[in-house]
Amino acid sequence: MHKEKATQTVCVVGLGKIGLTLAAVYANNGFNVIGADVNDKVVSTVNQGQSHVANEPGLDELVLRAFENKRLRATLNTKEAVSKSTIVVVIVPVLVDEQNDVDYSYIDSAVEEIAKGVKKNTTIIFETTLPPGDTKNRFGKRIEDMSGLKAGNDFYLAYSPERVYSNHILSGLEKYPKVVGGLNEKSLQIASAFYKKALQCEVIEVDSTDTAEFSKVAECVYRDVNIALANELAKFADEKGVKLSDVIKASNSQPYSHIHSPGIGVGGHCIPIYPYFFMNRGLKEGLTHFSREVNDGMAEYAISKIENQVGALETKNILILGLSYRGNVKEATKSTTWLLTEQLKKKNANVFVHDPMFTEEEIKSFSMEPLSLGDPRISTLDIVILQAFHSEYQDLRFEDFTNCKLIFDGRNEFNKEDITRAGITYEGLGG
Ligand SMILES: NC(=O)c1ccc[n+]([C@@H]2O[C@H](COP(=O)([O-])OP(=O)(O)OC[C@H]3O[C@@H](n4cnc5c(N)ncnc54)[C@H](O)[C@@H]3O)[C@@H](O)[C@H]2O)c1
Repeated sequence: MHKEKATQTVCVVGLGKIGLTLAAVYANNGFNVIGADVNDKVVSTVNQGQSHVANEPGLDELVLRAFENKRLRATLNTKEAVSKSTIVVVIVPVLVDEQNDVDYSYIDSAVEEIAKGVKKNTTIIFETTLPPGDTKNRFGKRIEDMSGLKAGNDFYLAYSPERVYSNHILSGLEKYPKVVGGLNEKSLQIASAFYKKALQCEVIEVDSTDTAEFSKVAECVYRDVNIALANELAKFADEKGVKLSDVIKASNSQPYSHIHSPGIGVGGHCIPIYPYFFMNRGLKEGLTHFSREVNDGMAEYAISKIENQVGALETKNILILGLSYRGNVKEATKSTTWLLTEQLKKKNANVFVHDPMFTEEEIKSFSMEPLSLGDPRISTLDIVILQAFHSEYQDLRFEDFTNCKLIFDGRNEFNKEDITRAGITYEGLGG
């Protein structure tokens, strides 16, 4: 008699922005998915067929469909979810602390639960961005020690970096090849076959988990270094009175030139964080270090340009547009607004923050003073700084800033003529 192949069960550990998207995609591509998370709100939302992630086109529908087809459910019990699964995908963050040391607190506790549930023949794939070596040396060993099982023989271990971009996660999963490295050939083959089916994407197999981990950190370092170069060029263009945007257009017409755009800072939980995964692990000096300094120094540079125009900032009313680290994303991690507010407060300026993605209460919870664009106090502002260009700022009415002397366009997004027409001085980066 023909025996039907059983549906494979996958456990996704960490149902955040990325984990929930992965879980929904796997579920819609023929897998039974159990999402495990420590946040009960996340778990109960998913168990009602809803996504807790905002601004991710297509995700709400995908979660609902997976739920209605009984392919996706969520739990707080990671150990049990792992014990019921043949594939376990780990997407719980690793961050850096105030001293930029690697902070493993979330993922270490997730790995302990995984180790309690792992069985013979389970395949565990790490997707979280990690310092190279961690899949094998930190987590693989921990799981071996706790479970008594041998990695590569009793259970399989692989690493595949998540390379997508907030607001474009689903399209990124379709478009970007999946880089996969295994602890041994069998681990690689299982992980690779899984992604071909679960994501239906191109897979690039590399020779080890270390190589796959290294490739993801290298991508982030590449971006950081190239943004730092653009920022250095912007500062020099300012000195020379040259318009950098025209330079970039001209230079990039040559196929080997890919000059990035300058900006007031690099934020978020990727680019400003992952270079430390090299810097703290033996990369002692060089471009990676210098680029972090250049990019984190842009806030100070912007403030010095403002001071050159308007003088001392003491008692000045300054509005920062955008708490998010970039436009149209609700994410305050390592946002340049933290650097700006800290430095402006030291200069005794009165600092306000506006961000359409956050409620006033949320802005207050970051110890920042919110100011809505409808508040009459906007007529008392002396300076406005664009930090994150949300779509809403496309229609900003500059003439409402009746007392404003200067608008600093930290993303080179505003139209200079509109600002000068409103009687306000325009400053940007790079001429
Ligand atoms: N967000 C991005 O744009 C992006 C892009 C590329 C790669 N990544 C990678 O994906 C990782 C996750 O990003 P995200 O945006 O989904 O993060 P997130 O903060 O949205 O979600 C993390 C989830 O993990 C859960 N969690 C924490 N500790 C846990 C534990 N012990 N067990 C189970 N769940 C736990 C949290 O409750 C949360 O739901 C990042 O750390 C990064 O390595 C993210």
